[in-house]
Amino acid sequence: MSSQLIDGKAIAASIKEELKAQVASLPSPPGLATVLVGDDPASHTYIRSKHRLCADLGMQSLHHQLPADATQEEVEAVVRQLAEDPGAHGILIQLPLPAHLDEERVLALVPLEKDVDGFHPVNVGRLAMKGRRPEFVPCTPAGCMRLLERSGVPLKGARAVVVGRSNIVGLPMALLLNHADATVTIVHSRTVGLDEILGQADIVVAAIGKANFIRGEQLKPGCCVIDVGINRTDSGLVGDVDFETVRQVAAHVTPVPGGVGPMTLIMLMENTLKAAQKSFQVRELQAGGAG
Ligand code: GUN
Repeated sequence: MSSQLIDGKAIAASIKEELKAQVASLPSPPGLATVLVGDDPASHTYIRSKHRLCADLGMQSLHHQLPADATQEEVEAVVRQLAEDPGAHGILIQLPLPAHLDEERVLALVPLEKDVDGFHPVNVGRLAMKGRRPEFVPCTPAGCMRLLERSGVPLKGARAVVVGRSNIVGLPMALLLNHADATVTIVHSRTVGLDEILGQADIVVAAIGKANFIRGEQLKPGCCVIDVGINRTDSGLVGDVDFETVRQVAAHVTPVPGGVGPMTLIMLMENTLKAAQKSFQVRELQAGGAG
């Protein structure tokens, strides 16, 4: 068997056209504020691509750059100011923050209605609970779900295995799959019997940050594999799955690059647009109420 590629680049491009039309219909452009502490080159690259995509969509973006030794108070002051700024509809704090900073305290300062990353504890709590709806869902897992849906992969009753349990990807991904009625297992570096668990999975989401970690021989024939990994190696960018062996076994697989990466970015834009739409609705209501 040779897999069908899930083309994240093409799916993101079609969503981009839908978003462009919606942005153009707003009274003023949505605004995304990004905050980067320090000078990690990969983080700089991600931030640049976010700003480029904002410009392509007719959205505004502003960037706050702080030095690697910025204090907790300095970072919090920037976030507090953005929380009050009506032009910043969405706020993104690029993670990871330097180790001396308290990430939890910084993220909690992002107002719920501007939390386009979905990392505020209240949004995470709502995502974890039955019958509750977060304002925003974290962008990478949201992008993975969109790829599964657009590829027609059945989710109800499917056995899904999420490899990795990070706050940014693994944990929210497992919660979203659970909401979609998949039977979800999270595996991680301490898991015993990984092969047995992987061998039963209809859906595998690989988000462990280890190059070529999952091989085709470990997988159930006909499964769907979503590869979240972006690992820089001597032979270039590779995912968390060994693409050549996995594509012999899986029915669907995402490539790296061109799979999940473009979806993460476009989900951020979708969340920012949603934040702006809500803020304009609130303003309209307030104006109506005042008149
Ligand atoms: N670092 C790696 N991925 C992400 C993400 O989705 N959002 C933020 N804020 N930081 C990240």
